Parts: sequence; structure tokens; C-alpha cells
Amino acid sequence: MINGGIPLKGTVEISGAKNSAVAILPAALLADTPSTIDNLPEINDIELLSKMIEYLGGKTIKKEHEIIIDPEGINSFCPPHELASQMRASYYLIGALLSRFNEAAIAMPGGCNIGVRPIDQHIKGFEALGAKTTIEHGIIKVKADKLVGNHIYFDVVSVGATINLMLAACKAEGTTILENCAKEPHVVDVANFLNAMGANIKGAGTDMIKIVGVDKLHGCKHTVIPDQIEAGTYMVAAAATHGDVTIKGIIPKHLESIIAKMSEMGVIIEEYDEDLKVTTAGRLKRVDIKTQPYPGFPTDMQQLMAVLLALADGVSMITENVYEGRFKYLDELKKMGVNAKVEGRTAVIEGVEKITGAPLKATDLRAGAAMIIAGLAANGVTEVKNIYHIDRGYEAIEKKLQKLGADIKRVK
Ligand code: UD1
Repeated sequence: MINGGIPLKGTVEISGAKNSAVAILPAALLADTPSTIDNLPEINDIELLSKMIEYLGGKTIKKEHEIIIDPEGINSFCPPHELASQMRASYYLIGALLSRFNEAAIAMPGGCNIGVRPIDQHIKGFEALGAKTTIEHGIIKVKADKLVGNHIYFDVVSVGATINLMLAACKAEGTTILENCAKEPHVVDVANFLNAMGANIKGAGTDMIKIVGVDKLHGCKHTVIPDQIEAGTYMVAAAATHGDVTIKGIIPKHLESIIAKMSEMGVIIEEYDEDLKVTTAGRLKRVDIKTQPYPGFPTDMQQLMAVLLALADGVSMITENVYEGRFKYLDELKKMGVNAKVEGRTAVIEGVEKITGAPLKATDLRAGAAMIIAGLAANGVTEVKNIYHIDRGYEAIEKKLQKLGADIKRVK
């Protein structure tokens, strides 16, 4: 429940990156000895993954923002289907278990319903390393006699496929070259983690990654990078409420496209080494946004930006180039007086001076966060239902917002 209209003020600490952490936990299963991962976000997707690792025979010791994963006892290549099907990133267990056992069987990944999300590039990659794949009754089975390095060209730029193939190729025989790779900061973070475990990966963060297979990996200690999308979320929340918020513990370089777009709208952003200060002066200006793989404007930010555009002066266009089904949330926002229409991959948003509180249903993770921000910026009370979507990927969102002065509470 949100009582809107209060400008956010103060400081917010950004947590570790969800999309990095959900790959690093499975990556820890490649080692023979325990790894310690800190700056871990306290989110439901991490809890689900830890449960799956325990189920597979691994040991986990969880402290606040830290997990120790001991993979020694891992004795199964079949994560529990009811858990695996609840999250997208369970697909990283395929790469990790395939590397460990030459075999993996897992329910087709779930996650946000934002359009068709095939995993054909993951499968193409595993098969290029020598695995055979079958999909039956919703379960994907991947099996190889042994994994042998190969040259793989991805037909689409995919974060998931790039990371999954790094996992599968780390201990494959010989050299693997991945081309047309995703360049997201979390791809680099996972490569750094694997290299600290003894892997030989070069080129992460560019289009081409070279992996020379090694026999063994050992545990290590790793700090997850800050979450660029969580940071972007609080930047938007600050601007939408015309507040004054310092966003702490970030890597500004990872936020370049978001900073550039928001600055173009007239948001005032002061950059420091690891912090940003976000303020506004008057009504924001319209802009057009086109989502692209990193370093382009992230698709995960478009729903949040839509709230800012809904209140900006003029008509804006968002072109969604990554997922074709990522505009469903606009129907919910329309209940608040947002003026938007969607044609194919483009949403046209005509800014209004004010929006009003309404009962809303979160349709997915980022849409849910966008609805909270819309509620914070609106006049009156907004109720956001289905917040389990939001808890999958945001740590204590209502507590962080309360600290910034928001009138928001979680209601059972
Ligand atoms: C990851 C992120 C998600 C983010 C997305 C794009 C995780 C857990 N999730 O999702 O938050 O929105 O990157 O930045 O990290 N594709 C194929 N075949 C494949 C794989 C992908 O056609 O085998 C397509 C997808 O449908 C999509 C595009 O490639 O259109 C990008 O997908 P990908 O980068 O793989 O996204 P996810 O790993 O699903």
C-alpha cells in the first residue's frame, strides 16, 4: 500500500546484482572446494537457488549478504522441477551440472512472463560442445560422453547463453571460442569469479570470449558487483517524486546509458566514484528510448522509465527490441491515468501532469517495481498486488523506500 505524493529524500544503499548472483551460485558448483560469495542480494531467487543446491547434495551456509557454498557432496544432476520452473536463471544449473557430470535434467526455466524466451542458443552451444539434448514433458535433458571445446557463434546476443556456455566450457577439453556474446557487467562478473576459481577465460565484456578448458576448479572468495537495475530503479523513483536521493555503492560506468537518458530528460545527476545524487528542477522532458543489449539501454529499465515518461512534458516513444511482450504493464498503469498506447514493439506515451493512485497487479518483476514508483509519484493511495514478483529480485524494497521517507507498507 502506497500513499503517494511524497518526494523521496536521503540515501539508499544498492545491493549486489541479482543477475550476477543467480549465475555465480551455480558457477560455484564447478569447484571441488567451498566458495564464499558476499554482497549477495537478499532476494527470493537466491533462496530458491540455495534450496536447489542443497537438494542436489551441496552444503550452503547463509549469513546476511553472504553465502558459503560447499559443492563437494553434489550427487545429483536433477534439480527439483517445482523449484527450477519458478525462476529463469535455473538454466545456469544446466551449464554447471553438465560440466560437473556431463549430464543435467531440469524443468524448463520460468521467470518473468515478458514474451517468448527460448533457450535455443544455450542448447545450440551445449550441442556444439558434444552434448545431446531432448525436451520431454517440460524437462530438458542434456547429456554428453565428454565435453570438447568448439567455436560457437550466437545468432542472438543472449546474456543467459553467453554465461551458460562459459560455465559448460570451463572444464571442457581444449579451447572454446564464443562469438556475438553479451557484454553485460554480470557476464564479466561471472567470468572473474570463474577465473578466480582457476578457469582460463579471456575477453568477457567483448563480443568474443575465449575459454581454455582446465581440469579442476577450486573454491574462492568473491564479491558480487552492485545491481545496475536496482540503482536505476531508485534513480527513477527519486526523479519521479522530484526528490533528492543519493544512491550509494554503485559502479557509475555500468549506469552510463541510464544516466545519459535521464539527463536528456532534465534529471540532474551528480556522479561520484561510487555514488550518484539524483534531483530534479521542474517538469521532465520527453525522450525516445530504444532498448538494446549492453551497453545499450537495458530492457530491464524500460518499464521503470515509462513511469517518468508518463509524467514528462510531451510525447515519448519506447521501442522494445529485446522482448516483444514487455508492454503488458501499461494496461495496469493506465488505471492511474497514464496515457499510453502500444503498437507492435513500440509504446507511445503522452505525458500527463499528474497520475492518481489505483489498485494494480504486478505483472512481472520490473513492472512491479514500476508500479510502486508510479504509486509513489501519484496522488492518493495505490495498492500493488502480486508482489512476489518484486521480491524475486529486489531486496527489502519497501524498507529502502521507507528510509527515503516514502509512505509504503507491506500488507499481508
Ligand atoms: C537476462 C536477464 C533479464 C534481462 C535479459 C536481457 C537474467 C537471469 N535475466 O535474461 O533480466 O531482461 O537478460 O538483458 O540474467 N534469446 C533467444 N534464444 C536464446 C536465448 C535468448 O532467442 O537461447 C533471445 C530472448 O528471447 C531475448 C534475447 O535473446 O529476445 C535476449 O535474451 P537473454 O539475454 O538470453 O535474456 P535472459 O537470459 O532470458
